[in-house]
Amino acid sequence: MSVYRVGILGGNGFVGGELYRLLSVHPQFRVEFVSSESKAGTLVEKTHKAFLYRKVNPKLTYAKLSELDGQYDCIFSALPTGVLPQQLEHVLQHTKRIFNVSGDYRFTDNNVLERYYPKSVATTQQANSHYFIPELSEVNPQATVVNLPGCMAVASIYAIYPLVLHSLIEGHVFIDAKTGSSGAGKSSGETHADRVNNFRLHKGFEHRHVPEIARIAHTYSSDALDVSFAAFSLDIARGIFVSAYSVLKQGVEESDVKKAFFQAYRSKPFIRYSGHAAPGPMLKTVHGTNYAEVGFIVKEGKCLSLVSIDNLLKGAAGQAIQAANLYYGIPETTGLITEQEGIWP
Ligand SMILES: NC(=O)c1ccc[n+]([C@@H]2O[C@H](COP(=O)([O-])OP(=O)(O)OC[C@H]3O[C@@H](n4cnc5c(N)ncnc54)[C@H](OP(=O)(O)O)[C@@H]3O)[C@@H](O)[C@H]2O)c1
Repeated sequence: MSVYRVGILGGNGFVGGELYRLLSVHPQFRVEFVSSESKAGTLVEKTHKAFLYRKVNPKLTYAKLSELDGQYDCIFSALPTGVLPQQLEHVLQHTKRIFNVSGDYRFTDNNVLERYYPKSVATTQQANSHYFIPELSEVNPQATVVNLPGCMAVASIYAIYPLVLHSLIEGHVFIDAKTGSSGAGKSSGETHADRVNNFRLHKGFEHRHVPEIARIAHTYSSDALDVSFAAFSLDIARGIFVSAYSVLKQGVEESDVKKAFFQAYRSKPFIRYSGHAAPGPMLKTVHGTNYAEVGFIVKEGKCLSLVSIDNLLKGAAGQAIQAANLYYGIPETTGLITEQEGIWP
């Protein structure tokens, strides 16, 4: 069994911490480098409370990104959007492949970049990059930067993909996503007092995940489909819940929708398709897991599709490891299934 040497960039952040927690017990990846600018010289375990009582403890020390040295089979990058492009040349001297969860290489179209990713405009063209959704995409052996989708984008994509693929909907799809506070990262200025006992709009219509969702609609169907999207802030730490309202084409029945979802997801180990049975997708049962729960309701020519994920896992660290498993020919679920999924109550 091959064991691959890996590094983590941005290891002191929320996503970096989850990458470290999962990769440090993955049987085929061995973490040998973890970057932090502010914690260089500190034991990685000291900064992540998940390690307080953990027996498996790799005892690695953070180093600055500039100190990245030697060769790694791959690097997981959890840096803020805009940072990796500035460091790409340096990082690629030490690895042939990067699994990237930031927004940097999701688009090459300058109009999209200027509008949604202004920090990535000047540098995004440098890389041989590949946008990769584990359930939808094929491995591209030439790719040097494998880009994972945005967390709210991927949950929204799971909600509409079967409908788009089978050309079941038309006109306009309205999507809203509610997200927990860890989605904003460790350095978010919002305090617990700001967030708790509240529910509010985060961003309407102009969110950067809109073009990703729209691109899926255009990639998998020739039907013109307008996508509207808004994101809301929940007062929980982790979790994303997406509701997508679409209009079914004339003659499309509930059984067609059921078949489309079943066919799209039946062989996908991390998609739990609950059909139209109550209670459908929930946050509690995906918390701390790499699962996406997917369900729908059809009524009078309309479809409401629902998805729940854990933003730090299926929306970031978990899907990056899932992608790496697929890229290295390792069984897709390796290192991502634990004995305690779906904790209840
Ligand atoms: N949070 C989510 O739910 C989520 C979901 C999907 C994708 N993402 C993406 O994942 C990435 C990380 O998100 P996060 O939530 O983990 O953010 P975070 O908690 O803010 O962590 C980012 C880490 O990067 C380091 N960093 C910041 N600026 C740097 C620079 N100029 N050079 C080198 N390192 C720098 C930080 O500080 P130190 O180096 O000082 O430790 C920190 O440890 C982002 O691109 C985000 O968009 C996040």
